Amino acid sequence: MATRRIIVTTLVSMLLAACATNNKTYRIGVSQCGTGEWRDKVNHEMLAAQHLYECDVKVSIACAYDDTRHQIQQIDSLADSGIELLVVAPNESAPVAEAIERTRQKGIPVIYFDRKAETQDYTAFIGGNNVSAGQTVGSYIADMASGIADHQPIVLEITAAMSSSPARERHDGFQKAMQEHPELKYICINSDWTSQSAYQVAKTQISSGLIPDMIFCHNDGMTTGVYKAIDECGQKGRIKLFGIDGMADEGIKYVLDGQLDGTYVYPTHGDEIIRLALNILTGQPYERDNAINGMIVTPENANIISLNSRELMKQNADLIIIHDKLDNYFGLYNSQHKMLMASLVSILVLLIGLLLTWLAVKQTRKAHRKMKALNEEQTLFYTNASHQLKTPLTLIAGPVNKLKEDTTLTETQQELLAIMERNIAQLETVTNSVLNFQKEQTASVSDDTAAESLANQEKLHESRLAMMMQEDTEELPSVLIVDDNEDMRRYLRTLLADKFYVLDAPDGQAGLKLARDIVPDVVVTDVMMPIMDGLQFCQALKSDPITSHIPVILLTARSTESQQIEGFERGADAYLTKPFHAQVLMARIYNLVKSRQQLRILLNDELRVKGEEIATTQKEPANAGTGTLTPRTQDRLFADALKEAIRNNMQNPNLKMDELGDELGLSRVQLYRKVKALTGLSPVELLRQMRLQRAYSLLVSTTKTVSEVAYEVGFGTPGYFSKCFKQHFGKYPTELRGE
Ligand code: FRU
Repeated sequence: MATRRIIVTTLVSMLLAACATNNKTYRIGVSQCGTGEWRDKVNHEMLAAQHLYECDVKVSIACAYDDTRHQIQQIDSLADSGIELLVVAPNESAPVAEAIERTRQKGIPVIYFDRKAETQDYTAFIGGNNVSAGQTVGSYIADMASGIADHQPIVLEITAAMSSSPARERHDGFQKAMQEHPELKYICINSDWTSQSAYQVAKTQISSGLIPDMIFCHNDGMTTGVYKAIDECGQKGRIKLFGIDGMADEGIKYVLDGQLDGTYVYPTHGDEIIRLALNILTGQPYERDNAINGMIVTPENANIISLNSRELMKQNADLIIIHDKLDNYFGLYNSQHKMLMASLVSILVLLIGLLLTWLAVKQTRKAHRKMKALNEEQTLFYTNASHQLKTPLTLIAGPVNKLKEDTTLTETQQELLAIMERNIAQLETVTNSVLNFQKEQTASVSDDTAAESLANQEKLHESRLAMMMQEDTEELPSVLIVDDNEDMRRYLRTLLADKFYVLDAPDGQAGLKLARDIVPDVVVTDVMMPIMDGLQFCQALKSDPITSHIPVILLTARSTESQQIEGFERGADAYLTKPFHAQVLMARIYNLVKSRQQLRILLNDELRVKGEEIATTQKEPANAGTGTLTPRTQDRLFADALKEAIRNNMQNPNLKMDELGDELGLSRVQLYRKVKALTGLSPVELLRQMRLQRAYSLLVSTTKTVSEVAYEVGFGTPGYFSKCFKQHFGKYPTELRGE
């Protein structure tokens, strides 16, 4: 077993070296002349040998079945089939020569094996040494014949087909041996490679009375026919029989069985044929003529040679099994390798896919962000543009409305005004759409609902107060307009001049100064202004005790919910967005003046009825945006301070309003405007009312005399006190006492 392994390993490593790391496929075509045990063995060996090389070797074997014409065609077609080398065992030497030359002309190397053709145009030869085979068998026969003493030994040679080279060479070798033994009677009869022909020759010969002592056939196959003839002629055991080939299951077996007296191992060496072919193909050095010697097989050595031969055959079979297993293993390995590669490629594709998806998502997000930013920018741009449009729109719409009131206009002029009006309305719609779009983007649904209800409330008030406006013409309230647009100031002045005393300022700072000096009844202010904007201005007004009571209307293009809320947080009392309708603005102003009057009543009541007990802890009223006023903390604080100042000083009959103002930190005018705004009374009137109110209380709650009471509340003379008391309460103080 160990020996076998060593032999196989050595063989493999030797053969692997032949083509080193060459990965080319070498196609070798084999044209076999015929069939039989011996050729089967060669074919088997060649096919096994093709797997021993690292390079790819493909051996294709064709058989001519002892038909020369068939073989010629076969050689030509093999030469045209793309083989790199032709191995041929010519059936007959002469006829196939031309086919071999044609193959050579195509540049294909040709190896003769076992048999030769009659052309020297071949690349190499490898095969048994047939001359030596014939001569060896001949010498062996001569040796055996030397034991025959009673007659001249007769030796018969039955040749194979002499048109084939081995037959001629075996004959030559045998003849040579015979010539060395002239004591022998040597007869040669030609036949062919078949057992039938040999049978015929032997039968005819023996039957004719010439009984040879020894018969030599050119191969073991032929001996079977001759053996049959010997048997049939009753000469078994008398005639010795010899052949050539020495196959384990053929010639050697016949020797062991006693059917043959000797044979010759004619070497096959299919592996050597392939090695020679690859040496030629890969440019390795090689011998042109490779004649391999065989050995004689006799009954004495047949057993050991049989064992050896079988062992070699077994090794060959093992080699094929190993190869098949390796083939399977590599097949499995290849498919697993392919699967692994396919999996790796799939994973790679998946990863690339994921990467691409991630990049695409990233790009899309980036693009979305850009789009969003762009949209916001666009929205801002359009919003600003729309805001910018609102003031000029108001300034066009207002004068157009005013012009329409002119009854002296011609029909054409009226039509032109109508066109202007329609287009102003369209422009208003467009700007509002842009602003609404911006609102929709930022405001929630609930905000929208809140805005709607707020708008409805405002509309209700406006319609009510528009009616009130007509009735209230008693005195002209003062309105301070603060706007950086001169046209707007001029336009508002035109609008309001009939009904109000109008003052104006170009920015919050100038407006604040004017408001403190004049203490107007209402302030109408723009929001976006230089130096001090409308919101800061509003906040400053509301936090100053002098101006805190003044209602403020924010008149602006800034119209979002959040902007309005911001305005109210800074103390605004009403909010009007541009473009506004003149009537609406008027209504708003009247609304606030009216509310202020209601507030006056409220504060007057407090001042008069409750006197010294006016509460100062009431909560800040929630009046934002409704246009209705209730007392603010600032106003209540002022009212408290005023009461306190009057209460502390009312006993002084010479009390001057300047002194009262000083105590409250106000100028005379400011005190007058503030007190007038909050109470509807001048400070002097308020002082007198409070004195009378106090007097009333003292008269009903104490036993003090009328004179004492008059002096206590600051009247210079009891007579003047009584007169004023009667005017105010409709009764003299004494009447009150008398009750
Ligand atoms: C097989 C065979 C052998 C013989 C050889 C000679 O075809 O006949 O028996 O030894 O060919 O070429």
